[in-house]
Amino acid sequence: MSFDLVLFGGTGDLAWRKLMPALFQAFRHGNLPADGRIVGVARDDLSDEAYRNLIRSRFDQVELSKRPRAEEFDRFASLLHYLRMDLSRPQDYERLQQLLHERQADTVVMYLATAPNLFTAVCEQLAAAGLNTPRIRLVLEKPLGHDLESNRAINRAVRSALDERQIFRIDHYLGKPSVQNLFALRFGNALFEPLWRREHIANIQITIAEDLGVEKRGAFYDNTGALRDMVQNHALQLLCALAMEPPIDAHADAIRDEKLKVLRSLKRWTPPAMDQHAIRGQYAGGRIGGEPVRSYREEPGVSPESRTETFVALRAEIANWRWAGVPFYIRTGKRLAARDAHIVVNFRQTPHPIYAVPVGAANKLVINLQPRDGLELHLLAQAENSRHAARSPIPVLAPVHLNLDFTQRFGSERVGAYERLLLDVIDGRLNLFVRSDEQEEAWRWVEPLLHHWSRDANGLRPYAAGTWGPSASSAMIARDGFCWSEEC
Ligand code: BG6
Repeated sequence: MSFDLVLFGGTGDLAWRKLMPALFQAFRHGNLPADGRIVGVARDDLSDEAYRNLIRSRFDQVELSKRPRAEEFDRFASLLHYLRMDLSRPQDYERLQQLLHERQADTVVMYLATAPNLFTAVCEQLAAAGLNTPRIRLVLEKPLGHDLESNRAINRAVRSALDERQIFRIDHYLGKPSVQNLFALRFGNALFEPLWRREHIANIQITIAEDLGVEKRGAFYDNTGALRDMVQNHALQLLCALAMEPPIDAHADAIRDEKLKVLRSLKRWTPPAMDQHAIRGQYAGGRIGGEPVRSYREEPGVSPESRTETFVALRAEIANWRWAGVPFYIRTGKRLAARDAHIVVNFRQTPHPIYAVPVGAANKLVINLQPRDGLELHLLAQAENSRHAARSPIPVLAPVHLNLDFTQRFGSERVGAYERLLLDVIDGRLNLFVRSDEQEEAWRWVEPLLHHWSRDANGLRPYAAGTWGPSASSAMIARDGFCWSEEC
């Protein structure tokens, strides 16, 4: 199968940090169809050779195990081409049209790794140049809009050029092996399904913690904040994977229909809930790995008076038969104590205690997403050897856990998120991409909070870099009688 992949923003940050390394890994793994062409598009005046050299120099910065050997890069580089384009000039789309016409590849992927404010214009120009035939697939990177209205405007423009089945909206969390294993855990195994409901589950916690700050993206981030950057997309997609009903099959729309139902069932925000169940914070200076780090307001590109949140903790509820009354806690932030993304499913305690157990002890399933991925099943077992247990009038149980480390089990050479997603686009599989109605529903849910926060200047709480965020986040969950995983 032949393909052309046109990478708009071909010299940009995303292209060289994520996309080129992923394409190279796909090539190295033998997964990239050999009859392919990758065409970088940008404004710079470069020849194919100069573009290849640019990409080669940037590969020097990727981690050693992912860096190509010289002859390996040369073979990969033969796929790389370059086209200079000014995205506002119709003539330039005609040149692109000619370039693609020469080869008549089976599939043409247009990857918009550009500023989102160009999406609408690029789609219109592509359509005007006849670049919207059925063999075209369009990939859109987040952020897709700043709120519901701007998201809908982009979706309208894109859909007037292309059919929904040709549109691949990326949420790179869906491409992570750990997230696919979450689907596998739920829908490839019968073990947990009977327990996966309000009768057995006390609460579910989703944590996506980063120890990094805003890096070089201060100006973008200051206009965005953690709710838009992480919750509207990645965290809500995780919540959907956890809460959705089993789809009728593994096809894209079957999965997306079920995710959409979860988003529609999310309890809407009321004014009291917005104050009690939504905590936001901003990092102050602190220490990460023993090194001092500056506060968010001192980051380049960030306003010294910024009121943008770099931390969010929320309590969500899903109003349906399976989940009514079960809190789903979501927490994400920058400059937290560790890079650590995980989900904790806390099961209810035994209905009638006949053993002595540590306070609050119950079964839990921990789904580790990164940096390592795996499963930990926490159980209680007879603590045979403890002195206390030997003298106790009733049997004493202690926490133990079963630990499955997927990296150890499957090796570290696994298909990474972007590699997986790029291959899916080339092959036309939409399962791991987000449909427009899902995206709009997610915006609809977060939007009242965005409005509330823009009017309420007082709710932003500072937290020291290197901690788990403002103490109000622990207080929120403690009010329900629970605690975050690192606290209990
Ligand atoms: C991106 C956000 O979508 O996800 C970034 O814009 C964030 O701010 C990143 O750092 C996190 O992704 P990962 O794969 O490193 O967890």
